[in-house]
Amino acid sequence: MTTVLELKNVTKNIRGRTIIDHLSFSIREGEVFGFLGPNGAGKTTTIRMMVGLMKLSKGDVLICGQSITKDYAKAIKHIGAIVENPELYKFLSGYKNLQQYARMVKGVTKEKIDEVVELVGLTDRIHDKVKTYSLGMRQRLGLAQCLLHDPKVLILDEPTNGLDPAGIREIRDHLKKLTRKKGMAVIVSSHLLSEMELMCDRIAILQKGKLIDIQNVRDEITDENDTYFFQVEQPNEAASVLKEYNLVKKTNGVEVKLAKDEVPGAIELLVMQQVRIYEVKVVTKSLEDRFLEMTGEAKEEVQHA
Ligand SMILES: Nc1ncnc2c1ncn2[C@@H]1O[C@H](COP(=O)(O)OP(=O)(O)OP(=O)(O)O)[C@@H](O)[C@H]1O
Ligand SMILES: [Mg+2]
Repeated sequence: MTTVLELKNVTKNIRGRTIIDHLSFSIREGEVFGFLGPNGAGKTTTIRMMVGLMKLSKGDVLICGQSITKDYAKAIKHIGAIVENPELYKFLSGYKNLQQYARMVKGVTKEKIDEVVELVGLTDRIHDKVKTYSLGMRQRLGLAQCLLHDPKVLILDEPTNGLDPAGIREIRDHLKKLTRKKGMAVIVSSHLLSEMELMCDRIAILQKGKLIDIQNVRDEITDENDTYFFQVEQPNEAASVLKEYNLVKKTNGVEVKLAKDEVPGAIELLVMQQVRIYEVKVVTKSLEDRFLEMTGEAKEEVQHA
């Protein structure tokens, strides 16, 4: 899959404090990618740096291969973003707002305006004044506005803030449409796991400016490895036999990340080394368990190691 946006050691120091700490990851064409983290984790700051609203202290952001620090104009043209509230003229109609915006961007046709209006479902109300719009309708107009120049990457900071469940669902459906139909990459942030699980393909978990982990939301549609727990009599030996794999030792066994077709081989290796196996099972954890565990909000689990 094609990478459309890449963070390389993105770091922000403000007055001696490291707000964002060496973030590195890539975002692919056609996916909805989430930044998940509690208040103050650094989601907005990261987004501000990605769209050139804030200078990086260190590192770089590549957008379709172009560097935001070295070649801002070329990099930014691939991006559509709503970071703070969208700039809208309340006394103009939605349509006039889009026309106004289109004047500042090269090559936006009337057809393009109609297309994005239709896409965000505002056709019925587009000629009404924005001051008569509900919050959700303003959000949709903001979305339409940042789609006018056909960006490859759409970045939305907390897009569902203040929306009711129907509005949230709508945004979700729009984002899916954009990625599935147009191959756009979408980056969204939120502090709500439940929402991100429904909206995203992958989620980066941020805490105190650090990347804690990246999770696939729907493991069954990816070829990500599962974690298997091997209950054995000699955990130390098992750990050394399987040391090539990504594993965690427990008092009564080992937890190993494996693809399904690697499991028989792993069992064989253990048996050959006379490790006595009592049980092998897939350890499935909900994303919520994993999130709480990783951000340290779960009850302390007794660690046997
Ligand atoms: N201009 C600034 N000067 C000093 N500190 C800042 C500045 N901007 C952000 N911070 C700090 O950086 C950290 C991350 O803030 P940020 O707004 O990126 O968090 P967030 O993940 O977006 O949180 P929220 O969920 O509340 O929106 C916070 O501790 C914040 O106080
Ligand atoms: Mg924020």
